[in-house]
Amino acid sequence: MKSDLIIAYRLLRKKFKSGIFSTEFYSAFSYVEEKAFFKNLIFGVLRYQDYLDWIINSFLKNKEIPPSIRTILRMGTFQILFTNKPNYLIVNEMVDLVEKKSFKGLVNAVLRKISKIGYIEPKEIHLKFSHPKWLVEYWKSFLPIDYIIKMLELNQKPLKTTARVNIKKIERDNIKISNSSFTSHSPVGIVFEKIEKNPWEFEEYKKGLITYQSESSQIIPLLVDFKKDEYVLDACAAPGGKATHILELQDVNLYVNDIEKERIKILEEQFKRLNLKPKKILNYDAQKIKLNDFFDKIFVDVPCSSLGTARRNPEVLRRQSKENFQKLSKIQQKIISNLWKNLKKHGLMVYSTCTVTIEENKNTVNQLKSLGEFLDIRNQLEQFGIKYIWDGYGALFYPDETLTPFYVSIIRKIKE
Ligand SMILES: C[S@@+](CC[C@H](N)C(=O)[O-])C[C@H]1O[C@@H](n2cnc3c(N)ncnc32)[C@H](O)[C@@H]1O
Repeated sequence: MKSDLIIAYRLLRKKFKSGIFSTEFYSAFSYVEEKAFFKNLIFGVLRYQDYLDWIINSFLKNKEIPPSIRTILRMGTFQILFTNKPNYLIVNEMVDLVEKKSFKGLVNAVLRKISKIGYIEPKEIHLKFSHPKWLVEYWKSFLPIDYIIKMLELNQKPLKTTARVNIKKIERDNIKISNSSFTSHSPVGIVFEKIEKNPWEFEEYKKGLITYQSESSQIIPLLVDFKKDEYVLDACAAPGGKATHILELQDVNLYVNDIEKERIKILEEQFKRLNLKPKKILNYDAQKIKLNDFFDKIFVDVPCSSLGTARRNPEVLRRQSKENFQKLSKIQQKIISNLWKNLKKHGLMVYSTCTVTIEENKNTVNQLKSLGEFLDIRNQLEQFGIKYIWDGYGALFYPDETLTPFYVSIIRKIKE
């Protein structure tokens, strides 16, 4: 128990410093039921960070405390306010974690005060749902308030694991995995109520019958009608979620590309596991790549600010800025205008992101408005039971229990 607490503390320290979880985290806590308390503690501290800091700061005269002490205070405050563990035990354990003797008294005093006062309901929604203030204000400038509240609320909840069934090999009805049921929107998806063992060990995964993938991602290739043997490019393809799905749906000549060599290795493993064969695997910068081939369909699942993935990685909310949205939009515009040259006349470009910004979605795709026709995909989304915001160019999915925010726009090429 004590050593798990120290591991949780060290992982959180690393996470606050570098922003990324190492594989160490996943092997230490991810899928082991008896470690659920520590997984909940780590993700809870990350999800409630803004709220926890608001409470902690109200008890600090000097708010500039060492990061190690802030981490311990966040861990203690989260446990006091959001778990059933006895407060005296939490305070003792947290004080024990403090290495700098001179700070033991401070940690003890702050946590005792928080234990006495308990949960305080903030008035402002960014604090209530623990998101950075500037981000919520930014969202208010272009999104309806009901969308924002739904997204903030769901961001506080863990996301259940979902998988896509490989319909080339088996019908979804014939997949029998305990604690799983059908997804609400994706006709090829299943959702796990809970996972009791390492998901990579499931026989269905090893045999290539299922692929772990978000439900939103599963929808994107399903919006397109693929013809046998046509030419398809997935320009930002790793780790291969959508690319492998395309080959499960139809035997096309699939070219896959990604800028990251290491990520291409994962993509290759996925094709192998699923026994699928892309025509070419490329490793270029899609902003500059020069191809001699022309494609019927080009998928650009571009690098983005990933705000829609906050339920899996709460830290993403605190690592973004408006400047970054602009920067990413420029890269995305370069990618789509470079690849436009390789799209056949009347061919389709499928643009998608897992983010919720106006720069990266509407303002990126609208660059193509004089060259292409934006397909109205609203009916298709309704058939999947998906609620969306339509901006005239594409659709932003409303999040729900298993659907995460996602943007998609499909453009038919009219002009060069
Ligand atoms: C959102 S992920 C793609 C996910 C993938 N389509 C799937 O469904 O599994 C974006 C990918 O774009 C790649 N990428 C980033 N910049 C790129 C560039 N300039 N050219 C090509 N790929 C790029 C990243 O390495 C990353 O793998």
